[in-house]
Amino acid sequence: MSATIIDGKAFALKVRGKVADHVARLKADHGITPGLAVVLVGSDPASEVYVRSKGKATNEAGMKSVEHRLEADTSEADLLRLIDDLNNDVTIHGILVQLPLPDHLNEDLVINSINPAKDVDGFHISNVGLLGTGQKSMVPCTPLGCLMMLREQHGSLSGLDAVVIGRSNIVGKPMAQLLLGDSCTVTIAHSRTKDLAETVRRADIVVAAVGRPEMVPGDWIKPGATVIDVGINRLDAPERGEGNTRLVGDVNFASASEVAGAITPVPGGVGPMTIACLLANTVTACSRANDLDEPEGLTA
Ligand code: GUN
Repeated sequence: MSATIIDGKAFALKVRGKVADHVARLKADHGITPGLAVVLVGSDPASEVYVRSKGKATNEAGMKSVEHRLEADTSEADLLRLIDDLNNDVTIHGILVQLPLPDHLNEDLVINSINPAKDVDGFHISNVGLLGTGQKSMVPCTPLGCLMMLREQHGSLSGLDAVVIGRSNIVGKPMAQLLLGDSCTVTIAHSRTKDLAETVRRADIVVAAVGRPEMVPGDWIKPGATVIDVGINRLDAPERGEGNTRLVGDVNFASASEVAGAITPVPGGVGPMTIACLLANTVTACSRANDLDEPEGLTA
């Protein structure tokens, strides 16, 4: 059997189209433009790339994008002052502080100083608690994107066995909460799980988010299962010429795609959905802030 390839790039374009439609309605009917502020401290090259593409996508959706670039040695007090200003700025509906932060800054303290209603990353402790108790929250972008793809693939997820490999606060834990919210039977597996292969073989849905290149082989996958690969690992690829690299996921795509019912590729699977969901969260935050209807199909 050969799996259906879930085209995250095409799906992300659809989500971004829905966001742009909702933004256009907010402008036309209410004179409101959603605004997203992205804060980057220091000049980590990967973070620079992410921040640039977030800003570009925000503008393309018709929203206001504001970038704050601070020196690597910015004090915690100065960063907290900027966040306080953004919390109080009525033209800003979403605030994202790009991680990782330089070592002298306390990430938890900084994230928890963002107004939870503007926390479009869904990392604030209030949003974590709201999600865990099934209340309305801001949901982390990557797991939200995975959930959207799974709903598109399956319709209802009710009663399905889901295994999430990885227990990070950014992906694994919120992903498990979202799947539980959609009535899956959820297992969170990790590096200490006793028999990972057998655990994964039970799953109708596998979400791999461990950050280890191709660690999930095809013979761990139950025939027909849906596989969502969150991993983005860069490997040397000398076969493509000296110094070249290639991206692989946490799943061995070649073998898993022979067994799975559906699978996300890397690149072109989960990755494009993360930015799309950041835009979705920003328009959702803006709608909530103005007591207006939330966009359909863009929230958990
Ligand atoms: N750094 C890498 N991924 C992310 C993300 O999703 N949000 C933030 N704030 N920083 C990141």
